[in-house]
Amino acid sequence: MSNFKQLFYAHCGQTSPFPLALEIEKAEGIYLYDSSGKRYMDLISGISVSNLGHCHPNVVEAVQSQSEKFMHLMVYGEYVHQPQVMLSKRLSDILPSSLSVTYLTNSGSEAVEGAIKIARKHSGRSQIVSCKNAYHGSTMGALSVMGDLDYKKNFAPLLPDIINIEFGNIEDLKIISDKTVAIIIEPVQAEAGVQIASFEYWEALKERCEATGTLIIFDEIQTGLGRTGKMFGFENIGIVPDIITLAKGLGGGMPIGAFISSPEIMSSITTKPILGHISTFGGNAVCSSAALACIDTIIEEKLLEEAESKAQLFKDLLSENKKIKEFRQLGMMMAIEFESFEINKKIIDICIEKGVITDWFLFNDKSMRLAPPLIINKEQIKEACKIINNAINEVI
Ligand SMILES: Cc1ncc(COP(=O)(O)O)c(C=O)c1O
Repeated sequence: MSNFKQLFYAHCGQTSPFPLALEIEKAEGIYLYDSSGKRYMDLISGISVSNLGHCHPNVVEAVQSQSEKFMHLMVYGEYVHQPQVMLSKRLSDILPSSLSVTYLTNSGSEAVEGAIKIARKHSGRSQIVSCKNAYHGSTMGALSVMGDLDYKKNFAPLLPDIINIEFGNIEDLKIISDKTVAIIIEPVQAEAGVQIASFEYWEALKERCEATGTLIIFDEIQTGLGRTGKMFGFENIGIVPDIITLAKGLGGGMPIGAFISSPEIMSSITTKPILGHISTFGGNAVCSSAALACIDTIIEEKLLEEAESKAQLFKDLLSENKKIKEFRQLGMMMAIEFESFEINKKIIDICIEKGVITDWFLFNDKSMRLAPPLIINKEQIKEACKIINNAINEVI
């Protein structure tokens, strides 16, 4: 074992007894390079983060030029500085007019915490509905709305008055009542293994929320920033939420998140008490500059327009393999389902050995995750699919 690996096991907090433990020294475009110089295709984008690939020159340039001007000035919300203001304005330009006010955070979990806080304070109610097999983050509030009782019971007591319903089940929406603050839901359920609900479901959800005065929070932390082939996942289903959360792909590789809403709902944290939500690093100038560059690059490089045809190529090349049980996909958010975790794991291990990084999902270990950088080109897709198909044929 290398010296670095030993230090990793000794001094870095471990999140599992069997980390991937690849020793990565460099990353560029869709590739990662380990300490021996071996090249890997990153087909999961650091879990839907590197939508522009690694070290996109526009993001690097934004980070470099902003860090020469200033980095941290003051806690979020006190000083007026250009990167933060321009990013918030840019987000309001590309979102529906009701989502005009942004609060910038450091991560997705923090964005979810903020969303829950403004929703509860605005409505005065306490019950929150979320979906089974949903992941919304690891802080205590975000964990409370997670959809896995077995997992979260280990950290109890959590927030009270949380109900989990089945994603996509119209009947379950009846649980939403005039006691419900909000439903927090993803436009595509990511960690359940790319689960897609019907249009009828979204229509019924919207109707039920309108009838009961319940807010809709869309967690777009994985689906946002082009992952589903639209800038935001909700554009696929035609519902505008009351609150949206972003993170992951927003910073082009830099840590930043956001919860976004209307002026009215956001003002819940402005008074009674004042400073109702405080963050030291939220909206950090360097991260905000990176995020601005990231949004502009997605648009300039026409990555949204290309996402569907690239995803179609993945679909064509993989779903012809009859050993695959199911292929689920919306834009560049894809899952390949096999009979069991054991089969999936063996295939994933071979892929990694052959230089293609994939993964399974937190709440669906029979399915392989494919969430490549949106910049991947068709030749690279063909190469990746050849390796995946060979691995499938070797295992099954
Ligand atoms: C849908 C969703 N929400 C929230 C989060 C939490 O984001 P973070 O890890 O940045 O706290 C994640 C992270 O995987 C996620 O996938």
